[in-house]
Amino acid sequence: NASARVKDLVAQMTLDEKLGQLNQAAGGRSKSLNSKLTPEEMEKVRRGEIGSYLHVAGAEPLGELQRVAVEESRLGIPLLFAMDVVHGYRTIFPVPIAMAATWDPEDWRQAAAIAADESSAAGLHWTFAPMVDITRDPRWGRIVEGAGADPYLGARMAEAQVEGYQGTDLSSPETILATTKHFGAYGAPTGGRDYGTADISEQSLMETYMPPFYAATRAGTGSMMTAFNDIAGVPTTANEVLIDGLLRGDWGFEGMIVSDWNAIAELMNHGVAATREEAGVLALKAGVDMDMTSNVLPTDIRNVVQADECLMQDLDAAVARILTAKERLGLFDAPMAYHDAQREAETLLSPQHRQAAREAATRAMVLLKNKNGALPLSSSPQTIAVIGGLAEDKMTQLGSWRAQGKPEDVVSLLDGLKQNAPEGTRITYAAGVFPKGDGEATLDAAIVTASAADRILLVIGEDYDLSGEARSRSDIALPRNQAELAEAMFAIGKPVTIILVTGRPLAIESEAAQADAVLNTWMLGVEAGNALADVLWGKVSPAGRLPIEFPRRTGALPHTYSEYPGGRPADSDLTKDTNRYMDIPITPLFPFGHGLSYTQFEYGELNTASTTVQAGKDIVLSIPVTNTGKVDADEVVQLYMRDPYASIARPKRELRGFQRVNIPAGQTKTLTFTLTPDQAAIYKSGTGWVVEPGKLEFMVGASAADIRSSTEITLTQQTITGTPAS
Ligand code: IFM
Repeated sequence: NASARVKDLVAQMTLDEKLGQLNQAAGGRSKSLNSKLTPEEMEKVRRGEIGSYLHVAGAEPLGELQRVAVEESRLGIPLLFAMDVVHGYRTIFPVPIAMAATWDPEDWRQAAAIAADESSAAGLHWTFAPMVDITRDPRWGRIVEGAGADPYLGARMAEAQVEGYQGTDLSSPETILATTKHFGAYGAPTGGRDYGTADISEQSLMETYMPPFYAATRAGTGSMMTAFNDIAGVPTTANEVLIDGLLRGDWGFEGMIVSDWNAIAELMNHGVAATREEAGVLALKAGVDMDMTSNVLPTDIRNVVQADECLMQDLDAAVARILTAKERLGLFDAPMAYHDAQREAETLLSPQHRQAAREAATRAMVLLKNKNGALPLSSSPQTIAVIGGLAEDKMTQLGSWRAQGKPEDVVSLLDGLKQNAPEGTRITYAAGVFPKGDGEATLDAAIVTASAADRILLVIGEDYDLSGEARSRSDIALPRNQAELAEAMFAIGKPVTIILVTGRPLAIESEAAQADAVLNTWMLGVEAGNALADVLWGKVSPAGRLPIEFPRRTGALPHTYSEYPGGRPADSDLTKDTNRYMDIPITPLFPFGHGLSYTQFEYGELNTASTTVQAGKDIVLSIPVTNTGKVDADEVVQLYMRDPYASIARPKRELRGFQRVNIPAGQTKTLTFTLTPDQAAIYKSGTGWVVEPGKLEFMVGASAADIRSSTEITLTQQTITGTPAS
C-alpha cells in the first residue's frame, strides 16, 4: 500500500541505496551524536548508506545530520532517528511495571505523550517502546520494562502507549513512531534467563503472549521489533510463520519491522544460519525490514539478492515500508520540523511534565500490607527514622532505560520526605547499608538512629542495576545486605514500615510478616520523593494494584492466578495428592491485582443485562461499589471470567475488565462492563478463535483472590471470531 511517492523513489534507487535504507547504525549511546560526526560518517550519509541512527539525541546535531541527508544525498531521503524512550525522555516517569500498577491506561497514554513531546523536541522520530512482553517469571530481569503477567491488562496498556506516542497525527512534530516489542514470546525464556528459548505451546503463545501485540497492531503501532530469542527452536527474527503469516497476514500489520540489536547476525549463534548471507536471507524472507546494527542486510545479501528475483521483491517491499514510515512521520515534506532548539529547551522537564510524573508515581504505588492502619503516617509530632541507602539513591529511581534522565533531576525518597514532612515531624536518616555494599554506612549507626525514633521507614529492595536487560536472578529474595538490614531493624522493636524499591516482585515473606506496613514503590522516576510523601501522609490514598503476583519463594515460579485447574487442583478440597507444594501454601504472598487503600469499599451484586447472550452480541454487566470509609479514594474494580466446561481446559479465571474509579467517602458508583464477543473466545489449534456455547462465570473483585460477587451467563451459539481474545 505504498504511496506514489514511495513507489517512485524505490523505482529510482540503486541496489546500494536500497540496502542502505535497511541499515540502522548506532550513534553515541544516550549522548549527542555530535562527537560521532566524522567526515567518514557524513560521507556514508551522502552516499545513502544509512537509513536510520539509534541512540542519538539533540535537536541541533541531529538537524545537521538530517540536512546532509536531505540536501546532499542523491535522492534526498531523510534519516530516521531512534532511541529507547521507554518511560520518559528527560522527565522520567515510574518504570513500566510501575506504570502498569496504576491499572489506568490513561496514565500511560499521558506519560507516553509527554515522552513523545520531549523526545521529538530533541530531534527524535522513533522510540523502541512499548515493550509488551508478558511474563510470569520475575527471575527475568526485563520484567521491569513491561506490564507484568496478564494478557488483558497488557493489551490495554500496550494500546494506550501506542496512542500516547503516536497521537492522532503521526506527521505532527510532537509525536513519534512507536515500536511494539519484542515480537513474539520474549517474556517466556526458560528459567527466566534473558534471551533464552521460549519453549511454549501454541496455546499459550496465542492466548498469553500475543494479545498485547494484537492490541498494539489494532491501535496502529507504526513498527514492531522482533525478539532476540527463539520459540521452540525458531528464532523470532527468522520466523516467517509468525511475522509474515500471523502479523502481516492474519492481522494485517502494514508497518515496519526492525530486528533487535545485532540479532540478524546472531541467527548464526542460534545455529539456523551458517553464514551472514544466510542469516540475512532468513530475516529478509521472514519479513524483517531494518537491521539494527549487525550490518548484515546492508552488506551481506547483495549478491544473493541480485541473483534472485523473489528476494529482490522482498527487498523492495522492505525499503517501501521504511520509506512509508518516514513519509508517515512527515519527513519528506518537513524534514527539519524536529530540529527546533528553542522548543527543545522549553519542553524538557517542564513543570507540567514534572507534575504529571508526580501524579503517575503516586498512582503506581501498591500498599501491600497495612496492619492496624499503620499508614497513613500521623501528622502529630514524632521522629521518623528513614533507614536504608536506597532512600538517597537517585539513579535507582530512574530505573532501566532512562533515556536522557539525569540523577540530578530526581527528588530522592529521602529528600521528598524531608521536604514534605508535616510541621513537628523530625526526619532522621542513616543508610545502614548501600545496595552495592559501598559507601561509609554502618549497621551500628543505623541501629542507633532507628532506636532513637518513634517509627522506622525501612527503605529496602533492589537497585536499578538488578533488573533490566540481562539482569536475570536465580533467587528473587532481597539481596543479602538488604535482608540483614531489615533483620537488624525488626530486632529494635519499633514499628517498621517497609518502603520497597524494586523492578520486580520480590520474595519477602519473612520481612512482610515482621513489618507493620509494606508499601511497594517500585522505581518512581524524577518525582519519586514527592510522590512518596503524598502517599505516606495521606494526601493521596494508594490505589496501585499488582500487575503480577509476589511469590512466597523463588521456587514457586513461574506461577499465575490464571493457571489451568488440572485433574487434582491444588486449591480443591482434596486432602492429599494434589497439584501443590509440600513445603509452602499454594497461594502467592500477594496475589495478582492486590493492593490496599486508606478506605474500605463494599461491593454490591454483580448484575447482568441478560442471562443468555446470543452469538456475536456484547455481554453487559454492572456492579455498585460503595466507599464506606472516611477518605475519598480510587478503587480498581476487576472483572474475571471463567469458562467452567469447554472443549479444552480453560484457566481458573481470566481478567476480562477493570476500571480505576475515584469514589468519594460515603458515596456509591455503579460501574458497567461491556465485553465484546471476542473476549470470550478460545484459541483452537487449526481453527482459530472460537466462542463456544455454554455457561460462563463472571466474578468481580478487588484482586484475583478477593472475589466479592459473581454471576453466570449462557452463550447460545458457537461463533468463529477470527480475532484474539483481547
Ligand atoms: O530496544 C532495545 C531492545 O529492547 C534491546 N536491545 C537493544 C534495543 C535498542 O537499544
